[in-house]
Amino acid sequence: MKISRRSFLKAATAIGASLAWVGPARGSRVHWHERRDLYPQGVASGDPDPHSVILWTRRPFAQGTRQLLTVEVAEDQAFRRVIAHAKTPVSSAEDWTARVLIGGLKPAHTYWYRFTDADGNGSRVGRTITAPSPDDPRTVNFAFVSCQDINEGKLNAYRRMIYEDERAPEAEKLGFVLHLGDFIYEVVQYPDEVKTRYDRTIYEVARFTEGHKVGNFHIPLTLDGYRAVYKGYLADPDLQDARARWPFVCIWDNHEFSWMGWQSIVKAGSFERPGQTIKVWANQAWFEYLPSRVTRSGKVLERFDPPAVKDVPIKEFDGDGLGVEPNNIIAINSLIAYRVLRYGQHLDLIITDQHSYRGPDPFSDPSLGKLGGEEFIGMSPEPLMQILDGGRAFNGGNPPPEIQFNDAHVPNPNRNAPPQTILGKEQKPGSRKSSRARRRRGRSGATHKARWMSAPIRRTCPRVSPRSPGPQTRSPSWAVLIMARRTPNAPRSTTSCATRRSRASASCRATGTPSGPDTRPRNFRPASSIRSA
Ligand SMILES: [Fe+2]
Repeated sequence: MKISRRSFLKAATAIGASLAWVGPARGSRVHWHERRDLYPQGVASGDPDPHSVILWTRRPFAQGTRQLLTVEVAEDQAFRRVIAHAKTPVSSAEDWTARVLIGGLKPAHTYWYRFTDADGNGSRVGRTITAPSPDDPRTVNFAFVSCQDINEGKLNAYRRMIYEDERAPEAEKLGFVLHLGDFIYEVVQYPDEVKTRYDRTIYEVARFTEGHKVGNFHIPLTLDGYRAVYKGYLADPDLQDARARWPFVCIWDNHEFSWMGWQSIVKAGSFERPGQTIKVWANQAWFEYLPSRVTRSGKVLERFDPPAVKDVPIKEFDGDGLGVEPNNIIAINSLIAYRVLRYGQHLDLIITDQHSYRGPDPFSDPSLGKLGGEEFIGMSPEPLMQILDGGRAFNGGNPPPEIQFNDAHVPNPNRNAPPQTILGKEQKPGSRKSSRARRRRGRSGATHKARWMSAPIRRTCPRVSPRSPGPQTRSPSWAVLIMARRTPNAPRSTTSCATRRSRASASCRATGTPSGPDTRPRNFRPASSIRSA
């Protein structure tokens, strides 16, 4: 199905991008000469569908508040067959970032793109790949990554990924990179304050003029603070090369906003405060630096247009655990990033937001600290976890007034709290949006439905590996892939897998052959034990 120009314009407006439509191929008429130094964060592409993709760059100017760039898309790397050519603005209001939605492309096709300013100063050349059409039976190859921390290491997993992809057979080359979050860590250590953490060297990322310090960590509390962190991360050459080689599909984890935060509440260790303005700023910076098909609050093409909010304590929550304080709702809805993307006949990517709608950590009440005692510090048996998780809804609405473990007895701190939620009402099956999306998918359901999330939501079968003894490693954390598989004649079955996600990347292949009751998706293959973030 081809998208019409009208719906394409609507889509570009919704995601805040300029737009360009493909025309007949011709030679470039732009006097481009490469000046990578003027495009210090490189180029990128994001969220491809069979006929369009978003292209991105950042070109800061010392003078003025708005300038125009030319974007070109070509069928060849030498730009002899340019098929799209358009002007796109960059402005100081958007930190000089540009987003262009290119429409009218062919499915499963490779294209090259570049940006040029009025003086011919050009970005590097980027490469992107459109998604296969929904009836394309070929295998989809992609890699997923998460938790990249340049404060404590380098992103050389991308270098290895590029190295392997360059040498892979054509049918096994990656189509896109799925970033499961923690693209940045907003908690930043300064190398002049901290030399090492565990066995890792601390590298410079960013400095905050208006931030807050928790222990050795500085956290941003302004838009400029978040922007500075993105710029610090995108200075990494391996990340820049990866973004110039493949389209990325991104969703945030916690650190794109706040380490222990939830909804619009900022929390970092003992520091906790209402953070509606900070949530909006974190969303704006994410929108500016990661080109994605997300819904923003603004109505103006090409701009985030942040809503005005105040930092107000959130005291009341509805039955689904959502803080009803109006500024909280506005801040959360300033950027809606959960979405569904389709890749060929075999893959629906269901991308979820696990932080904007969730409740507080049900184990965060300080009184619970004594439960495990000296013997089981920080540990709780599952029945106790279920009581805390269930809140006021536990046991049919009759939660126990007291909980106990070992010899400790404490009042149940969640007795009157809403039941814990991670996805919130909007993303759960049964919601209006969810039903609409399901109906759409149902018309042309893919062989595999992959729900991607940034943190485990249920107990799985983690393969725990000891922390690598080498330098620059991080303690392990986990990502979970839950794949619901189905074939036209077989009942749906669910399986799950977990992979080490600390500085880890893995590659996946979605094929048309559902597997048996293995605990891992068929053809799942961890990449070489690459150290990433
Ligand atoms: Fe992380």
